Amino acid sequence: MFPINEWGTSMSAAAFENVENEELALHRTANDAATDLANRIANIVRDKPDAVLGLATGGTMEPVYEALIAMNRDGLSFAGVRSFNLDEYLGLDPTHPMSYRATMHRIFFDHVDILPENTHLPNGTATDLTAESAAYENAIRQTGGIDLQILGIGRNGHIGFNEPGSTVNSRTRVVTLAPDTISANSRFFNRTEEQPVQAITMGLGTILEARQIAILATGKSKARALDNAMRGPVTPDCPASFLQDHKSVSWIADNEAADLL
Ligand code: F6R
Repeated sequence: MFPINEWGTSMSAAAFENVENEELALHRTANDAATDLANRIANIVRDKPDAVLGLATGGTMEPVYEALIAMNRDGLSFAGVRSFNLDEYLGLDPTHPMSYRATMHRIFFDHVDILPENTHLPNGTATDLTAESAAYENAIRQTGGIDLQILGIGRNGHIGFNEPGSTVNSRTRVVTLAPDTISANSRFFNRTEEQPVQAITMGLGTILEARQIAILATGKSKARALDNAMRGPVTPDCPASFLQDHKSVSWIADNEAADLL
């Protein structure tokens, strides 16, 4: 049994062996969990104003960005921050409203003082996608690496768009989305013919190089994936399970997502 005592507290995850710094933070509501993640991001940015943040899209992250926008209004500056998003749909122009580039501007970048030139997403319309992937890896490396990578989790245990079957050493590359991911994300598209079935994503190896990782899971649709990721075997069948071997990961969940822990 994973150690759970009180809601809203963080505890060291004694259930994990060989882990220097693993933590589970449980919250009553999805909003409390999102605020927790926003506070952790804010602390990193306060400590290191030119921090390199690994960012994610998806419904889970929207309240996190809302909280950060409010903190920016109250004086937290992102002017020195560099950011790298996990992924982008293949074939969607950055100006397409459902591209992750446009989404990030709509839900975060356009509302804070981050410099557009310091924000990075893979270009899903690059003509040479292999070169684009290598250039993305290089750009991350040139900043000195990601200080904090934030992650959501797919119902099938994916992180970024590393679907089940992804290997631990995978790097930024083109992937085909799993049927469950396509169906979960269809809610964001008006017309199914516009919804891409491929993406360009940081690999598991890329993600695991971040100095700190914080993964946020909210809602009951994530309960099975979170349980597999935290307590199941470390296996490509559940890509998020590789986080068990990272030296500094915080698992942040609301009570619905933590239901099976
Ligand atoms: C998004 C991403 C994905 C999502 C995951 C959960 O950039 O990389 O791994 O974090 O699909 O999506 P939501 O939050 O919409 O349930």
